[in-house]
This record gives sequence, structure tokens and C-alpha cells, in this order.
Amino acid sequence: MFKKIKPMQYFCGLDLGTHTMKASIVRAKDEENLDLLGIFETRTAGFKDASISDIAELAECINRTVHGVMQKTGVKVHAVQLGLSGNMLTARRTSAVIPLIDSGTKVISKFDLRKVDHQARLLGVNLEEEVIHDFPQWYKVDDVNSSINPMGLIGRKLESSLLLLTANTLRLRNLTKAVHQAGFEVSHVAFGGFAASDVAIEPQDKQQGCALMDIGANITSVLFFKNGIVGDVQFIPWGGNYVTQSIAQRLSLTVDLAEEIKKTHAVALQTNPRDIPGEILIKRPKGYIPIRRESVFDVVNWEIENFLPHLEAVVKGSYLYHQLNKGIVMVGGGALLPGLIERIEERVNAPVRMGVATQGLNNAALYAASIGLGRMHYLKKTQESIGVKTPQNIKDKILISIKELCQEYF
Ligand SMILES: Nc1ncnc2c1ncn2[C@@H]1O[C@H](COP(=O)(O)OP(=O)(O)OP(=O)(O)O)[C@@H](O)[C@H]1O
Ligand SMILES: [Mg+2]
Repeated sequence: MFKKIKPMQYFCGLDLGTHTMKASIVRAKDEENLDLLGIFETRTAGFKDASISDIAELAECINRTVHGVMQKTGVKVHAVQLGLSGNMLTARRTSAVIPLIDSGTKVISKFDLRKVDHQARLLGVNLEEEVIHDFPQWYKVDDVNSSINPMGLIGRKLESSLLLLTANTLRLRNLTKAVHQAGFEVSHVAFGGFAASDVAIEPQDKQQGCALMDIGANITSVLFFKNGIVGDVQFIPWGGNYVTQSIAQRLSLTVDLAEEIKKTHAVALQTNPRDIPGEILIKRPKGYIPIRRESVFDVVNWEIENFLPHLEAVVKGSYLYHQLNKGIVMVGGGALLPGLIERIEERVNAPVRMGVATQGLNNAALYAASIGLGRMHYLKKTQESIGVKTPQNIKDKILISIKELCQEYF
């Protein structure tokens, strides 16, 4: 008998960062055969402080980025999976409890889980918000049985706890409008940090306990994983742009020049400034002017010292801190500052490493979110469900549905 050959499918992830917009195209044959075909990035325009400052400029920027990756890969896409940065999101815990039956007990089915999760979502979301992710935390049956998957258990009432990531509905609609104006559809919306974890962290590490730290331009997102699920999400309003701004202000330079100096000369090491001799020559209209390396070091160190106490409070304050068996994985452009890994490691007292998204890519940590979004687009993992595995086989699917209907009504 001939094996049916699945056609190749192509998916585009668009990571809408405050500083840089990144698009990737992923080719998918099946879950095991997902290949990254290419990446393209553009400096973000028309989007400031998590809202649109100029929709025409933003649409133009999206158009340039997606066309850039299409040209690079020779693949045409019509829709993108849009990735949101942490500064567009709010994390909130919510819970709900429902009776399973008027009297007596019943076997818990998928319908009951859906119903209680829906109830928890309704109670947790504000009027002007939309749920981007709802990460199930636990279920309780009759106040006692705390379980990750209660399907099949017998009980009278069911409680569910969710961790919600929500975004402002109007902002989301405007972003979607900008994508449409750029000539593309939005297939899904997801949190870029969560998408990055999909490529930067192995599933078994998420099972054993670890964290993903996405240091972007203006925000650092920290996601804690245990038992394969996102158990905690925290945001710190700090990123690589804070370092650039400080260099620009304190050394009286333009932001562009400060950015260049940061990328080529800045280090986050805790070295004594006297050990950093030498000068950096900066081109000015009237010739070259020297800037002491020691001054750059001082500014960077001052910024890092501002950031570290907040980070320490977030990491050590998480209920999952003592479960970080597989350490912390860093992604995002802000994480590329040399020496930052060591400083964070020392401060939070946990192993820290740079996320490696794929071989053959320089600074892969920068693109983890956009690649993850492309993959998610295929895997449709935006609405993650824990413990409840959907069978792939159509016969099994029908059998399970019939079984559930019987349990529900008889
Ligand atoms: N090689 C590098 N060394 C140091 N910093 C870098 C380097 N490359 C990029 N950055 C910094 O990383 C930041 C941008 O990172 P990234 O692209 O992850 O942010 P973003 O996704 O646009 O922002 P956000 O996630 O906050 O919305 C900028 O501050 C940039 O200066
Ligand atoms: Mg980002």
C-alpha cells in the first residue's frame, strides 16, 4: 500500500517588537518536520509604547518585513501569526467552580472542563480585554482532588484555576487593521515570549522546571514552567533601550550613536572601571572626539544595577523559584549584552544560558519568538490545554466523542 504524501505547508510568524519587527517563514510537513526557511527584520516604525503612533507607517513597516522574508525565501504567504510583546499584555489568575450534577455524582468529561474553564475566563477578563492565552493551572474535584487532568474522575463539583494573558481589545483591533492594511490576514495572535519558549526550551526541561527570560527593548518578560505548563508570568519594565538611552543622555550622544557604541563596546561585567583603559573615537562633523571606555562602562553598570534588584525580586519571589531545576534561558536582543548572563546568574543564584533557536543563525536568541510564532501557526498551540490529549486518528476521535456523550447524558 502507498503511503499518502502530505503536502508542504508554509507559515509566517511576525514578532511585533517595540524596537525591531521580525518575520520568519517555516515549512511544515508534519510535527517532526518543521524547517525554518528564512528570517527578515526591520526597525519598527509607527508603534511606540505598546500602541500605534502612526497606522500608515506601521502598515508600511509590516509590509516591508513580510515582503522581505517572502523575497528571501521565495515563498508567498497570505496570513501571519502575530506575536505580541509583553508590554501589551496583562497576566492575571482566575478561578471558577461549577456543580457537575443536581444530585449524586458524575464522571467528569471534556464538556465539564470546557464549561468550568469558560466560566473562569469570563470571571477573569475585563470588559475591554481579550484573552490571548489561558494556561490551565489545576482542577479541584469536590475541594479535595487537585489534579492536572481530572477527566474520568467522579465528583459533584469542579473547580478550575487559569493563568490568563489578556490584551486590550481596541489595541488588538488596531494592530489587526494595520496588518490588513499591509495586505495580510492575521491567522492567530500569541504572546511572543511564549512562542519563543517553544523553540528555545526542550519539552522535558519545561516538565522538570525552568524559566524563559525575554529581554526586549523596553520590557523583560519572565515565564516560569513546571510540569510542562506555564505556571507564572511576570513583566519588568526594563530592556536594552534603557541602556541605549542612558548612554545617549549621560554621554551627550545621539540615540543612534549610543546604540552603535552599546553594540560594539558595552559590557555588563562587574569589572573595576580602572581595569578598562582606552578610548573610543567618535566621528563628528568637526572631526573625531574621544570617549573614555570607562565612562561607557560606568553608565552600563549603573543601568544593570537598576535592573538586577527588580529581576531578583521577580525570580526569587515566584512560587516556582525553587523548581528551576533546568535554570533560566535568555532570549531577546537585550540579552545579547556581553556579561549579562553572568551578572544575572550571580544575582538570582540559578544557572542561566542563552537560548539557541536553530543552528546556523547568528544571535538566534533574537529571532526565537518569530520562529516560534511560525511553528505555532502550524501547531495551533495558542490555546494550550494540559493533560487533555486529542487523538490524531479520526476513528478514535469519534469513539471518544460518543463515550463522552454517553457519560454526559446517561
Ligand atoms: N548585539 C547586541 N548587543 C547588545 N544589545 C543588542 C544587540 N542587538 C540588539 N540589541 C538590543 O536589543 C534590543 C532589541 O531587542 P528585541 O529585538 O528583542 O526587542 P523588541 O522585541 O523589539 O522589543 P520588545 O520585546 O521590548 O517589544 C535593543 O535595545 C537593541 O539595542
Ligand atoms: Mg520582543
